[in-house]
Amino acid sequence: MPTRTTAPSPLLLALREGTRDCHKALEARLPFFSPAFDSTAYRRLLQAYYGFHAPLEARLGSYQEARRAKTPALSLDLQALNLSSADIDALPLCQALPAIEDEASALGVMYVLEGSTLGGQVLKKAMAERFDFGPGNGASFFDVYGELTGSYWRSFLERLGQAPAAPAAQAATVQAAVATFACFEQWLGQRDVLS
Ligand code: HEM
Repeated sequence: MPTRTTAPSPLLLALREGTRDCHKALEARLPFFSPAFDSTAYRRLLQAYYGFHAPLEARLGSYQEARRAKTPALSLDLQALNLSSADIDALPLCQALPAIEDEASALGVMYVLEGSTLGGQVLKKAMAERFDFGPGNGASFFDVYGELTGSYWRSFLERLGQAPAAPAAQAATVQAAVATFACFEQWLGQRDVLS
């Protein structure tokens, strides 16, 4: 029997279109595949990821279902890389975060965070090959939903599909997604972990 596929919603198409260049630009500056990338650089990068995800997820609050929390996986990875809980609590946190004012802007932020779990599947494999990291020893963040990655993505797309169709709301969602990429790139740049 053929698998049922749903046509992408207009909002998903607008998000893809609106963030394509941001994704390309950030991907090109992330060091995962650079020859000089070593385990020390990996740990610094993960610390910077934590400094963005922890305050952003706190700000998302109940807009994000608890099961989608990704900060705990980052904490686990940093502990596996020898940071103590006190070290983790003392990590610098990003202050310049995208505004989350309503469901429309929350959806834009979540699109970026949820979409990154798809790219995470590529990074999970690459990091396992390069460093022998994996879930439980330093790279659980990149496979945070494990075998549920596909179903979590589809259920997020269902929520996107139910978003109000008003053009202003849809524009606010795309704008929040672009702002999320921009803030993340700026933060990672400030932490000096990008090439
Ligand atoms: C070197 C780093 C990265 C690589 C190699 C990468 C790779 C990918 C790939 C292969 C996909 C498509 C996956 C699929 O359709 O199954 C994807 C989608 C996506 N990634 Fe990345 N990614 C990276 C970093 C990031 C980062 C840092 C973010 C955001 C914080 C991000 C956000 C997204 C989003 C929002 C999607 C779109 C999902 C969609 O609309 O279908 N990615 N990425």
